[in-house]
Amino acid sequence: MTKYQSVLQHLENHQYHWLITGVAGFVGSNLLEALLKLNQKVVGLDNFSTGYQHNLEQIKELVGEEAWLNFKFIEGDIRQLEVCRNACRDVDYVLHEAALGSVPRSIQDPIQTNESNVSGFLNLLVASRDAPVRRFIYAASSSTYGDHPDLPKVESVIGRPLSPYAVTKYVNELYADVFFRCYGTQSVGLRYFNVFGARQDTNGAYAAVIPQWVAALIRNKPLFINGDGETSRDFCFIGNVVQANFLAALAENPAAVNQVYNVAINERTSLNQLYEMMRALLLEKFPSLQNHKPEYVDFRQGDVRHSQADISKARELLGFEPTHRINEGLKQAMDWYVTHLSPES
Ligand SMILES: NC(=O)c1ccc[n+]([C@@H]2O[C@H](COP(=O)([O-])OP(=O)(O)OC[C@H]3O[C@@H](n4cnc5c(N)ncnc54)[C@H](O)[C@@H]3O)[C@@H](O)[C@H]2O)c1
Repeated sequence: MTKYQSVLQHLENHQYHWLITGVAGFVGSNLLEALLKLNQKVVGLDNFSTGYQHNLEQIKELVGEEAWLNFKFIEGDIRQLEVCRNACRDVDYVLHEAALGSVPRSIQDPIQTNESNVSGFLNLLVASRDAPVRRFIYAASSSTYGDHPDLPKVESVIGRPLSPYAVTKYVNELYADVFFRCYGTQSVGLRYFNVFGARQDTNGAYAAVIPQWVAALIRNKPLFINGDGETSRDFCFIGNVVQANFLAALAENPAAVNQVYNVAINERTSLNQLYEMMRALLLEKFPSLQNHKPEYVDFRQGDVRHSQADISKARELLGFEPTHRINEGLKQAMDWYVTHLSPES
């Protein structure tokens, strides 16, 4: 039995109280689905700045009325300390996902990004400390590696941040670390690398590359590749992210706590390769993609050129073992988008 299987089994037999911030967003709603299916009690907090009510409705449908009774939703903002205190009441584990994502958004509006990602984070950490919760698990980011050229990325070696977003995510790690030193607050930071899967937002200028492209392909709209297409990423299916969160929350080894971990696959895929994989997966349903070609535009400011995670630390200390490599994850994600994305809009 893998470590993850034993954690899932443990959760089936023990009911805990979880807080998921950013629950109406992509990662948050996937954590919610997994926890409710395991009969856990969940409080969700979101201000709908980039998340959606329809994501919550979809989870209700997926888990059924009975499991849904274990969920309580608070519409509120992590920039308000009292809201965070209220949400943390009687909670065992916090999964903190609420933040303003996107490198370009942070370059456009660093103050808004800082308010949610740093002040909001600090509020939630204070509320978690005072509740007190058992452990605070938070979404860190691969953007923290900044301009450091080494590949694969190892947790202890980072460069200078390339965007305000990257600064905020690094500050999260510094705060979490100092809260352990000053107050003994237990935390784990998960440096996600380009996560993708069901319910990831396709809309707007700040959409991530996979949902943006899948919408363009399904709707037969122009698809843009920034730069020469040889920029590469370690794309990580959402199922692996859910696994990392559960392993981090329930890790028993004291050495595993108050750490940050890469969460990815340890594989590098270029944008050109990604485009071909996605096109191939959609071709059967959309034969017109046979002759589809991407358009190449300028490199995007603040983007790192290559990214690939060393995941041995998460393997050793958490027992993390990705269940989905990129193609397996893409297949599931494409199936979801084909079902849920209207071709005409
Ligand atoms: N998706 C990725 O590839 C990726 C990679 C690295 C890190 N992350 C981090 O993972 C977390 C989740 O990202 P996601 O992709 O699910 O993004 P998302 O935008 O889909 O979800 C974020 C959620 O947080 C909510 N939120 C934002 N500010 C808030 C505030 N002030 N108060 C209350 N709620 C607020 C939004 O409404 C949204 O529902 C974020 O912290 C993000 O920085 C994501």
